[in-house]
Amino acid sequence: PFPLLLWAVIGYLLGSIPFGMLLTRAMKLGDLRSIGSGNIGATNVLRTGNKAAAAGTLLLDGGKGAVAVLLARWLAGEDATQLAGLAAFLGHCYPVWLRFKGGKGVATFLGLMLALSWPVGLMCCATWLAAAALSSISSVGALVAALMSTAWMVLMREYELTALTVALTIVIFWRHRSNIARLRTGTEPRIGKKKTG
Ligand code: G3P
Repeated sequence: PFPLLLWAVIGYLLGSIPFGMLLTRAMKLGDLRSIGSGNIGATNVLRTGNKAAAAGTLLLDGGKGAVAVLLARWLAGEDATQLAGLAAFLGHCYPVWLRFKGGKGVATFLGLMLALSWPVGLMCCATWLAAAALSSISSVGALVAALMSTAWMVLMREYELTALTVALTIVIFWRHRSNIARLRTGTEPRIGKKKTG
């Protein structure tokens, strides 16, 4: 059990690096916590008005999920990948450095999906893009992509990954409870708009 536990710790530590906070601080874009939704993810970084910082956050938050899975696969084999990915995702959502108040997990989720099964990962990214483009709302993209991830796993016959996608979907919905409340009242802001209802 020790090596597996080790991968949970490595995954968690990787996932807990709050790239959105680090980038916005380094680029002197203000305090993310007092901008828009107050979230540390790429969508909220975009509300600073800096597209490069938002793209960097998306890539780095996604990258840490992918790296956790790929490192585990490379050094410990396939058995450690799901745990490392889940730990990275939870590290992003509940980082010890931010007193467990982290992000909503979407970029990290997409990154680890790509690393666990790239066809499903691409389908999740495409679902996110399509739903976000159609609605112009980032959280709609996230919620639809999370919901569809299990269906895409089944379609691609990656049955051993479906329990993980169900668990990730539940956490993503939980982390989006304020977004869901705003969606219900029609006050969820469109992508790039600074105001949050
Ligand atoms: O990835 C998070 C996104 O789905 C919502 O972000 O800042 O609008 O709550 P935000």
